Amino acid sequence: MQRDNQVFDLINQELQRQRQGIELIASENFTSLQVMQAMGGVMTNKYAEGYPGRRYYGGCEIVDQTEQLAIDRVKQVFNCAYANVQPHSGAQANAAVFLAVLQPGDKILGLDLSMGGHLTHGSPVNFSGKIYEPHFYTVEKETGLVNYAQLEEVARREKPRMIVCGASAYSRDWDFARIRRVADEVGAFVLADIAHPAGLIAKGLLNNPFDHCHFVTSTTHKTLRGPRGGVILMGTDFENPMGLKDLKGNIRMMSNLLDMAVFPGIQGGPLEHVIAAKAIAFGEILSDEFTQYAHQVQKNAQAAAKALVDLDYHIISGGTDNHLMLIDLRNKNITGKKAQETLDRAHITLNKNAVPYDDKSPFVTSGIRIGVPAITTRGMQEAHMVQVVEFIDRVLMNIDNETEVANVAKDVHKFMEQFPLYPELG
Ligand SMILES: Cc1ncc(COP(=O)(O)O)c(C=O)c1O
Repeated sequence: MQRDNQVFDLINQELQRQRQGIELIASENFTSLQVMQAMGGVMTNKYAEGYPGRRYYGGCEIVDQTEQLAIDRVKQVFNCAYANVQPHSGAQANAAVFLAVLQPGDKILGLDLSMGGHLTHGSPVNFSGKIYEPHFYTVEKETGLVNYAQLEEVARREKPRMIVCGASAYSRDWDFARIRRVADEVGAFVLADIAHPAGLIAKGLLNNPFDHCHFVTSTTHKTLRGPRGGVILMGTDFENPMGLKDLKGNIRMMSNLLDMAVFPGIQGGPLEHVIAAKAIAFGEILSDEFTQYAHQVQKNAQAAAKALVDLDYHIISGGTDNHLMLIDLRNKNITGKKAQETLDRAHITLNKNAVPYDDKSPFVTSGIRIGVPAITTRGMQEAHMVQVVEFIDRVLMNIDNETEVANVAKDVHKFMEQFPLYPELG
């Protein structure tokens, strides 16, 4: 077969783009080379429906071992009792938990998408809002913090079967204990979707959801710095507390119901090459180097937030506990769309984002979301955050001056030369 230069040229261009730009998309990161090598390896050729030791195909004795390693390592990372490493993505992980414990039409309660929640937490355009009956809580207009009083009020009124906490654009920690108290009162399960801050939770830098939530889901490619994928986890105390039954009316272990929900419930063959990469990433997370990384992410986020506030940018909730922040640009008279597009031309990549109680459409928005996991992987520390914020401010203060935007792009390229990315790739 001839080498497909057309595609490999594009892959090379993408490598150059990643190398020379400042990556501030809060949900992105750079995996290690070995994580990428596993994803590009022979395990992509293997069918392995089922679970280690109980597959529907022959020849699974090796992938059984990588999958078991991934399970064991992620359980060690979070000190938890159960893990399913097969979900192809964070959305799949959430779908599987819903399928395991909910019936169509059951009520769910999640953070409103426009307040920082995720599509899979009940949005009407997503399966979660179509199959189940979604209800929402919000953040307070004045503080930008989750409105727990309202969450409790809606929970008591609607008696949802599932309360979902976690978000895509929320910079503060979660009070899992408080959510569990009201869940117990109304007979609801609690799902903590820690897709975003999982790497910080793994290192004890944020509240631990496993002490309070029945289920924990995550992506593996954000602050966990692994391959693109998902995972479902459970703490130690929550083996089917409500006596849920399978299709035949038998009470099953919750771990069994979750496994069955992933396969055969919503997925076919697992991506064993990605699972091997997850095993490597979880091994990396167990290292001291990752502990330092997670601390640096949190310190960098706080340094970036301070630098932004010093330049009169308005951060929702006034700051950050985790790896990201949401900036309301209305006092600068710039839309999120325009900011994203112009910053892109200066090779500073981030996303426009609705701010709570936004008066603009989701295609325009009043805000931008900034995250530091990727630039922290590149080796940046607090002092570099000031420089990054200065670049952002130079672009936004010269939003219609293409010459200055092009000058910033040149300065960004020069700046990024200090932080080599995948030097082994030439
Ligand atoms: C909170 C949350 N949950 C789930 C997901 C979905 O993950 P994926 O894109 O892997 O399906 C995301 C992705 O951004 C997220 O932020």
